[in-house]
Amino acid sequence: MSLEPKEFMSKMVSRIGFTAADRQVLQAAAGWGLEIAPEMADYFYEYLGRDAEMNAILNESEGRIHRLRETFVAWFHEMFTGMDDWGDAYAERRWRIGLIHVRIGIGPQHVVPAMAVVVHEAGKRAQVDGKNEQLREALAKICMVDLAFIEQAYIEVSSAAVLKETGWSEGLFRRLVKTGAAAM
Ligand code: HEM
Repeated sequence: MSLEPKEFMSKMVSRIGFTAADRQVLQAAAGWGLEIAPEMADYFYEYLGRDAEMNAILNESEGRIHRLRETFVAWFHEMFTGMDDWGDAYAERRWRIGLIHVRIGIGPQHVVPAMAVVVHEAGKRAQVDGKNEQLREALAKICMVDLAFIEQAYIEVSSAAVLKETGWSEGLFRRLVKTGAAAM
């Protein structure tokens, strides 16, 4: 049950329909992406800070929120540059980001609405700046690719931990999950 980032990336790109045209549109707007990144970070952390549970995580250690603002800006900009044209380095980086969140105990219930804030605010700003619909769509798609990585990391890590601890086979684990879901 170990995820191969490159393979997962190409599956998501295909499922989400992130095309070569989307890549071009994002790369052409990379300067704009970097320019608006700090403002997006403001919206993002303001949103997280309004939730008591997430606010506590953000301020758990000194300097964390400051560090996070910097990593957010880099992350946001990478969605436009694609790092290595959305290749291996991009996929590896997204997988690492997913693992970091699992380690801190941040699950789908936190990440999905947080990503919705990014899509919403970046879309609004694009409109204000007179950017075309294609850019907004391309950005929303790559946000969904990134979101899929964080979500999948949660499943992969949880399942791998159970398998390691119990020595169960994947087949047995899947059957137990199905039985458990049916009983709920
Ligand atoms: C759209 C969803 C999210 C994105 C794209 C995102 C992005 C990132 C990135 C790029 C990092 C740095 C990873 C590294 O060090 O290499 C990070 C770390 C972190 N994120 Fe997120 N994040 C998201 C959601 C959240 C949520 C919902 C929380 C909840 C409070 C959160 C809290 C944290 C914390 C605490 C760290 C570790 C900071 C440290 O280094 O101490 N993130 N995130």
